[in-house]
Amino acid sequence: MQIVLIPGDGIGPEVTAACCRVVAAAGVDIDWVPADAGLGAVEKHGEPLPDVTLELIRKHRVALKGPCTTPVGKGFRSINVRLRKDLDLYASVRPVNSLPGVKTPYENVDLVVVRENTEGLYAGLEHQIVPGIIESLRVITKPACERIVRYAFEHARHAGRHRVTFCHKADVMRLTDGLFLECARSVADEFPFIAFEEKPIDNVCLDLALDPTRYDVLVMENLFGDVISDLCAGLVGGLGVVPGANLGSRYAVFEAVHGSAPDIAGQGKANPIAVVRSAAMMLDHVGERAAAVRIERAVVKTLQAGVGLTRDLGGTGNTDSITSEIIKHLVA
Ligand code: NAI
Repeated sequence: MQIVLIPGDGIGPEVTAACCRVVAAAGVDIDWVPADAGLGAVEKHGEPLPDVTLELIRKHRVALKGPCTTPVGKGFRSINVRLRKDLDLYASVRPVNSLPGVKTPYENVDLVVVRENTEGLYAGLEHQIVPGIIESLRVITKPACERIVRYAFEHARHAGRHRVTFCHKADVMRLTDGLFLECARSVADEFPFIAFEEKPIDNVCLDLALDPTRYDVLVMENLFGDVISDLCAGLVGGLGVVPGANLGSRYAVFEAVHGSAPDIAGQGKANPIAVVRSAAMMLDHVGERAAAVRIERAVVKTLQAGVGLTRDLGGTGNTDSITSEIIKHLVA
């Protein structure tokens, strides 16, 4: 099976290489098709997201991607935003669950963040009206609202989950989130066997800090989803452990929630678990369920044993040691 591999920037090449070792040890025969994106691609192709990379994903349908650096405030537009838009990867899915051996204030967190990935405040439509006055457009369309909420309900149904919470700010953004809320209510009617709740995003943040175990599936607009994903990662052990998928009706790109972590890049310190778990989601997606389950179990056993863990998990190990431990538990 051929799958596109985008190592990305910063810690990306380190964690994706570790991940490929784990997938190979799981016995899945993947012929990785390398592709460039990010700062490295600018040097090689003159642009951060070359057409050839998009073509490769279109051809092979599925990709595993490392994080890509986006310059702040200037330079090129976010590669991630463009990739998700160009391939219409409309649903970002991020499962967030407590992990054994990872000390956090809460146990039994088990929720999924479903984020609309193509519009909202990340539509990338900003312009200067006059110097000192900038406008950013928050694009909300009925079809995009309906399909992301429908995706959240379908996901809940397939995953045996029981409640979908729609997060919004419709009291202030009356037109945009008003429409989103209207669409959410109407789609919820199609799924009477799954509980539906609507909550202002600020209340959701409060609840997540007080008792995140009360949530099941959370669905929301692009910017809200970006912020909530990191918040939720913090509830279960940080960015080093939370996986993710960007899904559309034709293509799928799997990647961790975290970024390129320039502060630890090139030092062999990065935790590969988030990318390894993203690869497990990818294997499940392509029909390699048994291998996906084995990888998840090996990650859990590694965390339980507490040997070779990276510093973000309180250990003294590195990318190599934790990868070797995962492989050890995989083949045991
Ligand atoms: P970041 O996620 O790269 O790092 C935040 C903090 O978490 C840092 O202290 C970092 O060392 C730590 N961290 C992240 N991943 C880790 C891992 N696997 N193991 C151990 N520690 C880890 O977020 P930041 O610094 O805001 O962004 C850096 C760059 O990444 C930016 O250019 C940003 O645009 C980009 N980015 C890319 C994403 C993607 O390609 N999907 C997602 C988020 C950010």
